[in-house]
Amino acid sequence: MTDSNTLEQFATKHNIQGLTEPSLEALMTNTPGYTTDKARSFLAFQQHINEKLLKHHIILCNDYCNWFERGDQNKAQVREFVVQFSVFSNLFLVAQLHKTINADTIEGMHASKEILANEIGVIFNAQKARKAMVDSPDAGENPDIVSTEGSVEGGQFRFKAAHFEWLYRMAQKLGLEFTDIGKRRHGTESTLFYCDELTRIYGNEDYLISQAASYAVENWAAAGFWNQLVKGFEKFNDTSEIKLPLGFFTWHALIESQHAAHTQEELEELYFDREIDEDKFIHYGNEMLDGVAVFWDGLENQRQQLEL
Ligand SMILES: [Fe+2]
Repeated sequence: MTDSNTLEQFATKHNIQGLTEPSLEALMTNTPGYTTDKARSFLAFQQHINEKLLKHHIILCNDYCNWFERGDQNKAQVREFVVQFSVFSNLFLVAQLHKTINADTIEGMHASKEILANEIGVIFNAQKARKAMVDSPDAGENPDIVSTEGSVEGGQFRFKAAHFEWLYRMAQKLGLEFTDIGKRRHGTESTLFYCDELTRIYGNEDYLISQAASYAVENWAAAGFWNQLVKGFEKFNDTSEIKLPLGFFTWHALIESQHAAHTQEELEELYFDREIDEDKFIHYGNEMLDGVAVFWDGLENQRQQLEL
């Protein structure tokens, strides 16, 4: 690995500041596909992405999450939120399976399976996770000690480590039963629209469309909504007689902060590796974020109706 200073000097010399270190490294070592011309056109593309995709209103301002973070929600509002999230959590599996099937390289398929398998209960095989398994026979049940790092390769499956089951345990504390959550019939029109858009765009057969959706979704998640939800739930727990287990949300907040660092590297890898239709990428990224916005706007309407 070349040190950061050398990479920075190389970037300055060729006027390509702004690229991530793996790309600079690939340029310095003349990796096929990596040229300074292409680096400059990538930076122009990034500029377009910043202006035409990353300023989407759901990234800049999420009314529902801003409200949720304040912690003023009543029990009915929390229940409905958990129901809608449980539908999303289950239907996300459908989208992720499509993404896995439609992967156009074996590496892409593996990356998608990592997410899918972890989602249904395979605990990442990392040092921390192994330690947790030894320390606690209930590992998996408590997402606070389930690793957010590593690979599902060689990892252990536990029913209780399925993300849906973390939500189920939260739902039970709110008086909800298994048959009250997670099914398509429990979703509002806006939640279902969002889930179907995930399958259509994020799980698309066209790799570029699917990657555009991934990039958009990652940037939306990196904008911090998980942390806002955690804060709101903590305030709810402080003031309510119910103490909700928050592992589903704290675990996702943690993993998201790690994803954010990789998202940009993945985009650059995609760009140097293939010919990209830039307008198409931005178009489908925006369509995905429109779907995301419908979900949150639906929750915002619903919570207003449940205001006491
Ligand atoms: Fe999840």
